[in-house]
Amino acid sequence: MAAPKYTGKIEWPTKIELGRGLEGAITNETKIGYVDGEKGWLVYRGYNIFDLAEHSSFEETSYLLLFGKLPKDDELSDFKKKLVGYRKVPEVVIDVLKSIPKEVHPMSALRTGVSVLGCFDRKAEEITPKNDTEIGIKLISQMATIAGAIGRIRKGEPPIEPDPELDHSANFLYMMNGEKPDDFSAKVMDVSLILHADHGMNASTFTCMVVNSSLTDLYSSVCAGICSLKGPLHGGANERALAFLLKLKDEENAVRYVKDCVSQKKKIMGFGHRVYKAYDPRAKVLGQYSQKVTEMKGMGHLYKIAKKVEEEVIAAYGEKGIFPNVDFYSGTIYYAMGIDVLMFTPIFAVSRVSGWVARVLEYLPENRIFRPRAVYVGPLEERYIPIDKR
Ligand code: SDX
Repeated sequence: MAAPKYTGKIEWPTKIELGRGLEGAITNETKIGYVDGEKGWLVYRGYNIFDLAEHSSFEETSYLLLFGKLPKDDELSDFKKKLVGYRKVPEVVIDVLKSIPKEVHPMSALRTGVSVLGCFDRKAEEITPKNDTEIGIKLISQMATIAGAIGRIRKGEPPIEPDPELDHSANFLYMMNGEKPDDFSAKVMDVSLILHADHGMNASTFTCMVVNSSLTDLYSSVCAGICSLKGPLHGGANERALAFLLKLKDEENAVRYVKDCVSQKKKIMGFGHRVYKAYDPRAKVLGQYSQKVTEMKGMGHLYKIAKKVEEEVIAAYGEKGIFPNVDFYSGTIYYAMGIDVLMFTPIFAVSRVSGWVARVLEYLPENRIFRPRAVYVGPLEERYIPIDKR
């Protein structure tokens, strides 16, 4: 997809109107990423995501987010070697994952796995930019290993040892599915991981930064990010969007479904966004891949139904700035690739850990603990009444 020309200078707004859920609040200045909700722009360190999705890799994009520049050949190969070197997790992590009941949501298992990882890292409590950067790189590598193991254990299958010859996305698919992916499937996963890597001050990124601003360890902050991302209003929307799409038999059903949601004022998963009041640029790329992958796997009807839902929702809500977001098409792609629905949000986390780590590291040198306020609207003059008088 041709990369649009993003131009102009972004300034601090002169007037800030705060709404519930910190709508409109600004936490800090950043060079990591920029979301223009009106224009539907997404930029990582100045590079727009259409360019990155087409030309970059998840490893290179993670390097860009962490270090602020595209790596030279030797820098990228050193970074990839480090990621490969960290892939294997301590056996105890796998043992704990195996002890978790199979029906537990994979995001709860992922949160647990990362927590155990932290318990077995002797340098976890060394809170310095240098050590946190190393832990961050470890987490970018090992979240994929843990998520891959969770995907296998849930199906009653043994976890797969990472393959040092495969790139990050291909190895992640291999560890999750147990077979080496073809180049196109690896590319699709890599594009998806690039697109999900960073997105401004979203709930899970903000959670990581708030938790880390108390100068706790990075494992604790990333665990908190996983907990936030799990929710259906955030990263959990991708599995719910696919769940409703699978229930729609045909396009006629799709029209009726949207009409029912509109009349019942029911939120439609995969649509709407706090910041985007235009089409989410990530959904534009994922929509194209959804059509390609579903048609390749003989599921073109699923894409047609999704497209019909999109048309109907935009017809009903486009004026209100409600369009598909990143979670609408991602699920159709993963489903067509044979990935279990409940693994969709862990895939989001395997990507977003790069953005979480990058933003936590950026904020750390001039850290200030986050401490907003609430407006107290309760009573002030209450007097204590002994219990026998109540
Ligand atoms: C992600 O922040 C990020 O950047 C997140 C993310 C990232 O990369 O990190 O982009 C990833 O989380 C994407 C969002 C995934 N969630 C969903 O798809 C769940 C469905 N979407 C909604 O729950 C909602 O749109 C949110 C949570 C995403 C945004 O919520 P807001 O900004 O708090 O909006 P709101 O709930 O206050 O709604 C404003 C209006 C309401 O109508 P009115 O009461 O004003 O008449 O818009 C309506 C809402 O009813 N609305 C929807 C809708 N989303 C908002 N109506 C129908 N379907 C929807 N999906």
